[in-house]
Amino acid sequence: MKRIISPSMLSADFGHLYRDTKMVDASAAEWVHIDVMDGVFVPNISFGFPVLRAIRQATSKFLDVHLMIVSPEKYIERFAREGAGMITVHYEAVDDLDACLSLMRSCGVQAGVSLRPGTPVEVLEPWLDRLDLVLIMSVEPGFGGQSFIPEALDKIRELRGMIDASRGVSDECGNGECGLHGRGRTLIEVDGGISAANAREVFDAGADVLVAGAAVFGKADPAGEIEKILNS
Ligand code: DX5
Ligand code: ZN
Repeated sequence: MKRIISPSMLSADFGHLYRDTKMVDASAAEWVHIDVMDGVFVPNISFGFPVLRAIRQATSKFLDVHLMIVSPEKYIERFAREGAGMITVHYEAVDDLDACLSLMRSCGVQAGVSLRPGTPVEVLEPWLDRLDLVLIMSVEPGFGGQSFIPEALDKIRELRGMIDASRGVSDECGNGECGLHGRGRTLIEVDGGISAANAREVFDAGADVLVAGAAVFGKADPAGEIEKILNS
């Protein structure tokens, strides 16, 4: 099974954003995770389009945009134009998921939906064949550097079972920029409290993509840490 690391730029040094993006660009990470927070859906505000643009200009890697905002449908078109490859909205923040997924498809981005720790994976069963990715939050969204919630492992296993039993999205999924086109499965991404110490367990539970912020950028050798997480 293919493994992907998506370093979270939330933990980068914004005084050296170009340097930190170039580090990710030269690393074994295939994706770059962009956390957008609005101070309403989560009790924190991160960054928006100008920062995304600066990151886009410094790397050609696949941009994995995690929207922790209310009414995400208002901004999907703009994020797509700014270079997002994957846009992930929160199930809890969307009124009309059907319309939201159609909009993402029409904008040419891959479609992801994220679940807060308290939201069960069953809610996504009717939508799985339209999802390129499900993001399981393993911390309450809003801040980097929190501890992994172990209950997330059961959710990952359960979702793995649901996806393996379903047909997946291979016939209609995006344009293959992620390098996984044709794999025939909705990807499982896990976000929050991931490090080299727990990555293996999370991959073994069925995750395809791991987000890591503090564990990467807090190290003297962040690119080395990315490899450690990838090969754990
Ligand atoms: C939290 C964000 C995460 C965060 C992860 O709400 O969605 O992407 O940056 O950071 P770490 O890996 O430090 O838990
Ligand atoms: Zn995130």
